[in-house]
Amino acid sequence: MATVVISTRGAKRIRKGHLWVYRSDVRESSDAEAGSIVTAIDEAGNVVGHAFYSSVSEIALRFLTTRDEAIDRDWWRARFRACGDRRAMIARETNAYRLIYSEGDLLPSLIVDVYDGHYVLQTLSQASDVLQSEFVELLVELFQPRTIIERNDARVRELEGLELRNGVVYGNAPSEVEINQHGCRFIVSPLSGQKTGAFLDQRENYLAAKRLARGSALDCFTFNGGFALHLSGACESVLGIDIASEAIVAAQKNVQLNRLNNVTFQTTNVFDALREMSSAGERFDTIVLDPPAFTKSRATVKSGARGYKEINLRALKLLNPGGLLITCTCSYHMSEEMFLAIIAESALDAHRRLQIIERRGQSSDHPVLLGVPETHYLKCVIARVLD
Ligand SMILES: C[S@@+](CC[C@H](N)C(=O)[O-])C[C@H]1O[C@@H](n2cnc3c(N)ncnc32)[C@H](O)[C@@H]1O
Repeated sequence: MATVVISTRGAKRIRKGHLWVYRSDVRESSDAEAGSIVTAIDEAGNVVGHAFYSSVSEIALRFLTTRDEAIDRDWWRARFRACGDRRAMIARETNAYRLIYSEGDLLPSLIVDVYDGHYVLQTLSQASDVLQSEFVELLVELFQPRTIIERNDARVRELEGLELRNGVVYGNAPSEVEINQHGCRFIVSPLSGQKTGAFLDQRENYLAAKRLARGSALDCFTFNGGFALHLSGACESVLGIDIASEAIVAAQKNVQLNRLNNVTFQTTNVFDALREMSSAGERFDTIVLDPPAFTKSRATVKSGARGYKEINLRALKLLNPGGLLITCTCSYHMSEEMFLAIIAESALDAHRRLQIIERRGQSSDHPVLLGVPETHYLKCVIARVLD
């Protein structure tokens, strides 16, 4: 195993719980091959741990362990099995969940999602890409998947100098799979849908929203109807809107699959729709806002904040007194504190008094690793308009 020397600052970052060392903290890496596992030592020669090495990414090292241990097949098997054990309770509630959440599960740059026995894998760094066949073999050995699909078309792979590709790597995958989330049925397309097929990170927020929702509901940025279908049983009527026509076609199929008669969908731009509904004097009792990330880097936080402010302000104006706002941001760069400040400003400008009922995050199969703030990206605030 090659050795990489890292700065005191880099070593301190790892000893404080983070898993990444940036290129600017690498002092010597001439022996390390692209995509290999290396031993990292500090400038005094002490072992800091073993890590994935990338020859091009700004994240040069992703730590697998801070112990001096062999990273062999048994080691991977134990980590994979532990992920499966930690999901045992979740697998009783749904057949669609994240089995391996990269850094959150101490398996950096590796994601594995499960859709009714069909596994979808993403290897997002040079080193996890090198190990992909071994990971496929281990998944087969441990979990007996029906099929394994790779969704390595995620743009972040470009930061690692990796090509974008997707396809079936084990078995014969169908183009569509039916999943069940707490009694709600959805058709997902793991080979072609957004992300790996569904927004699994919102699953527990669907349940929270359903517990509190009532009356007439508007689900903005509905995608395949995740919130809308869950709200159906609690609300008189639900309207889901999204700009992507193929997402709306799929959402409509999901409504038929569940034989629901109070859910409708429209293909439209949420920004325009909220403005038009406001002018038309429409009102709702429940509104969900689950937009795409409006800011993907620190540099665009200000412009992203304007987007969040606009939709939250408009949604608050559309809510009846006592109405419920379920508002989300999936941008890591938008902290919960900043997001709450935007919601507070929106409430002031809309002349509404708001009560925060719940502050939530991503579902528990996307666990946040303390020390690695980047693993906490989704924020979901549930608030009630008092007057
Ligand atoms: C984070 S996803 C929503 C996930 C969904 N709520 C769920 O639980 O499955 C964001 C969605 O916003 C849609 N979208 C992006 N920009 C939009 C816009 N301006 N108006 C309407 N929908 C938009 C995308 O097509 C995508 O389906």
